Amino acid sequence: MRYRVATDGDLDHLVDWNRQLIEDERADTPRDEAFLRDRMRDFLADGYRALIFEEAGVPVGYALFRPDEYGILLRHLFVDRARRRRGVGRCMVERLVAEIFPRSARIKLEVLVHNDRGLAFWRAVGFTDHSVALVRRT
Ligand SMILES: CC(C)(COP(=O)(O)OP(=O)(O)OC[C@H]1O[C@@H](n2cnc3c(N)ncnc32)[C@H](O)[C@@H]1OP(=O)(O)O)[C@@H](O)C(=O)NCCC(=O)NCCS
Repeated sequence: MRYRVATDGDLDHLVDWNRQLIEDERADTPRDEAFLRDRMRDFLADGYRALIFEEAGVPVGYALFRPDEYGILLRHLFVDRARRRRGVGRCMVERLVAEIFPRSARIKLEVLVHNDRGLAFWRAVGFTDHSVALVRRT
């Protein structure tokens, strides 16, 4: 598997993958294309990096992350729906840890509590439960 830094030419693909990610994790984030495009642009202009992972030249997923005060904030990790449960996600995390993220950095991410598959994945690739985020509406 290879990876490369996403460029402006990848924006359409990133936005579409992000929409699928939101669907898959059943998040209440708005899914309209204009909102997601502006948000992705803002992420990339505001210190986030997006990496696109490829197998035999075909994009299979992406990761979006930035440094934070403790280490790394891993905002998105997404594997193409047709390629899941084949070790792609695990391989992406291993490559990020071994080759991209600084040594000994703490990697933080959020998972929605109803996202059982996401939780099972993160625990399988070495993450442990850390905190619970609470929300309410006004
Ligand atoms: C979560 C996600 C990145 C996993 O990618 P993947 O390539 O399918 O994961 P892998 O094949 O590397 O799985 C590694 C291990 O994680 C666990 N796992 C992965 N998907 C799982 C699922 N749907 N149910 C239960 N366990 C799962 C398993 O232990 C798996 O090992 P195994 O296949 O040997 O049993 C992918 O399903 C995805 O993009 N989902 C939508 C977006 C999302 O929910 N992202 C995380 C949000 S925080």
